[in-house]
Amino acid sequence: MLTGKSIILGITGGIAAYKGAALCSKLVQAGADVRVIMTDSAAKFITPLTLQTLSRHPVYTDTFDERDAAVVSHIDLADHADLIVIAPATANVIGKMANGLADDMLSTTLLAATCPILVAPAMNVHMYEHPAVVHNLELLASRGVMYVEPGTGQLACGYVAKGRLAEPEDIVAAVQAFFRRSKRLEGKRVLVTAGGTMERLDPVRYLTNDSSGKMGFAIAEAARDMGAQVTLIAGRTAAAVPAGVRLISVESAEQMLNAALHEYDNTDIVVKSAAVADYRPAAVQQRKIKKTGEKLVLELERTTDILAALGERKQQQFLVGFAAETEQIEHYAMDKLRRKHCDLLVANDVSAEGAGFNGDTNIMQVYSAEGLLESLPLMTKREAANRLMTIIADRLPLRRESAGL
Ligand code: CTP
Repeated sequence: MLTGKSIILGITGGIAAYKGAALCSKLVQAGADVRVIMTDSAAKFITPLTLQTLSRHPVYTDTFDERDAAVVSHIDLADHADLIVIAPATANVIGKMANGLADDMLSTTLLAATCPILVAPAMNVHMYEHPAVVHNLELLASRGVMYVEPGTGQLACGYVAKGRLAEPEDIVAAVQAFFRRSKRLEGKRVLVTAGGTMERLDPVRYLTNDSSGKMGFAIAEAARDMGAQVTLIAGRTAAAVPAGVRLISVESAEQMLNAALHEYDNTDIVVKSAAVADYRPAAVQQRKIKKTGEKLVLELERTTDILAALGERKQQQFLVGFAAETEQIEHYAMDKLRRKHCDLLVANDVSAEGAGFNGDTNIMQVYSAEGLLESLPLMTKREAANRLMTIIADRLPLRRESAGL
């Protein structure tokens, strides 16, 4: 399963460091080439010799212990890794990652690495629930760091609570799932639109909406992590732009339409999660509108429906639309799916707690021409994006069949 995969295993200083040995052994048995980096604290719990014997490579503990004059160890290691796994990950290493600190071999390598990172936290429950740690974990998640959640059970400190390192078998399963997922959309070109459009009234004012772009960004990240080449057309957003995707920034619905049409022919999958203005000011004033009377009437005109325009031109493309609704979800979702020639329509009730604009979670229903396909309960937007992209990858062959490809 893991043959040919180069994995850095980072072991940090918690009592669960001993489980790092079992994990290392299982990864090697599964065929991976495992390079182990241990922190000084980890070496107090378990000896580097154990990990050297299991990984069949010298263990790295010191940034300045340069064994090969031809390379700089932490850069060389970082450049050649397909994945970094940190297990157990202490609150300290999580804090260092979140803040970009690099004061030892592991944190320096982490800063130099561009490959995906899987973190398996293990710590006392109060540490795990500390706002600083929660914030750091969330920050890292927004940068695409993956997690294997700690388990609940007897902790070394005596508490029975959440914080116990996930079992080595579960971490290996997460590693295998990652590599399976990372190939699912290899060679596919994915176009994602995200955020709200801005429709100018004058040089200092515009009409927009509450969309944060977080759902679209999460979808772009999920597609990227499945091996796709991702182009992201983003309007006004409030989230950090994902790394490793091509970004086209736009303001208005018209600019988004033009950018989408320009990309469309060379695209396999389109996910249209942007909140596009349905109306824009009929005229954009070149100078700031001065206040005059007691009332001001704005004249608005319809924008082009981008999704419908793409639906009309559909060839090989797998087209996914979104629908933000507050009532009769299924009725409107199915209507939009048919009208705009979508392969899937993702609907959410934006009035429900935990769903819709701005938050970090969503509740979504995925519809196909046959009706409700999957109902995704409350989960993080990133997890929802993974699930959606998996449904798309599963159904892609059907689309290609029906397009005669
Ligand atoms: N959409 C679009 N261009 C527009 C309006 C909407 O591409 N001018 C897309 C959105 O990106 C989304 C889908 O159409 O994928 C549905 O958007 P939504 O605002 O829910 O629906 P509308 O078609 O605008 O219908 P209504 O406003 O009546 O609910």
